[in-house]
Amino acid sequence: MNLDSTSFPALVVREQGDGTFTRSIEQRQINDLPAGDVVVQVEYSSLNYKDALSASGNRGVTKKYPHTPGIDAAGTVIWSSADSFLPGDQVVVSGYDLGMNTAGGFGRFIRVPSDWVMRRPSSLSALKSMQIGTAGFTAAQSVMALQAMGVEPDQGPVLVTGASGGVGSVAVALLKELGFTVVAATGKEAEQPLLRKLGAEDFLSREQAAIGSNRMLLRERWAGAVDTVGGPILATVIKSTKYDGTVTCCGNAASGDLPLNVYPFILRGVKLIGIDSARCPMSRRKEIWRKMADEWDMQFLDEISRTVGLLELDEVIDRMLLGMVRGRTVIDLGEGA
Ligand SMILES: NC(=O)c1ccc[n+]([C@@H]2O[C@H](COP(=O)([O-])OP(=O)(O)OC[C@H]3O[C@@H](n4cnc5c(N)ncnc54)[C@H](OP(=O)(O)O)[C@@H]3O)[C@@H](O)[C@H]2O)c1
Repeated sequence: MNLDSTSFPALVVREQGDGTFTRSIEQRQINDLPAGDVVVQVEYSSLNYKDALSASGNRGVTKKYPHTPGIDAAGTVIWSSADSFLPGDQVVVSGYDLGMNTAGGFGRFIRVPSDWVMRRPSSLSALKSMQIGTAGFTAAQSVMALQAMGVEPDQGPVLVTGASGGVGSVAVALLKELGFTVVAATGKEAEQPLLRKLGAEDFLSREQAAIGSNRMLLRERWAGAVDTVGGPILATVIKSTKYDGTVTCCGNAASGDLPLNVYPFILRGVKLIGIDSARCPMSRRKEIWRKMADEWDMQFLDEISRTVGLLELDEVIDRMLLGMVRGRTVIDLGEGA
């Protein structure tokens, strides 16, 4: 096979003359891809909020178009000039610059630096690894950050915001598995039965979750919280966190702003922990994947995930931007794509 001229389908986002962006499935060639010492044939990718932003022209994520998003990819190495990988290796690539300004997993092939590539744990299928994807990985990072800060199940309930989303739903299930009492803040009443099945014991609407966001402090309720939305909801969460509690912050689905004062920190010793998955060092990344592959029961992923082809992606991206997607969406890049 002449690798460079191998053509493959990919979702391509293009900027039009009037400043709008369009998405279509195009045939690309491997020699269109950026330089890198490993080429991976992608079996599955997954949809994350950052992909939806990239696919709609958000310059905070992607500066140059045309572009193929997809911050996650699982597949097989088909070419490598790096000592660390051989053709046939089963790998996961997620984070770093993949799908941001480097053509990503919404195409059947990616070419990337070997530093971004991780051997897939043998107990995880390619499909399962993308049911996890960046969202699941970020949920795991958030939950582990709460544990590292000393948040224990007997200290009180833990709140998860944006609970029906990718990060949120995995966080609910993992916290439950680790013995925590979980309260879910969700804008989707219809998803409460699923969230209850995953482990949520009580619910707040988005409006309830933001009540009192402009007050100095609020009644102490949460031993910890996993926030995925930012804005007034995060402000309320921090102001309602118990003495010495910890809140993790990974997302901006509601807002990138945080209207806050210093009192939760200086009067209650509340900790606010930032979570970044993209630049998580490889050694820590491997340890988090190992836990998800071998230590934690991740069977709930089948319940919260669905698989779509490239052709269905356009519509799911629009729904995600409206906050209407539940759980995880996997993209099948196989021969039928
Ligand atoms: N820091 C990192 O490394 C990292 C990694 C992954 C994700 N993230 C960020 O984490 C966030 C969640 O990612 P995701 O993949 O889980 O996205 P997602 O699947 O789209 O979930 C986001 C959820 O947020 C809630 N939401 C949406 N719009 C909202 C609004 N206007 N106000 C309040 N809540 C709203 C919705 O849940 P409900 O309907 O249940 O309320 C939605 O399902 C995103 O901001 C993403 O960029 C960051």
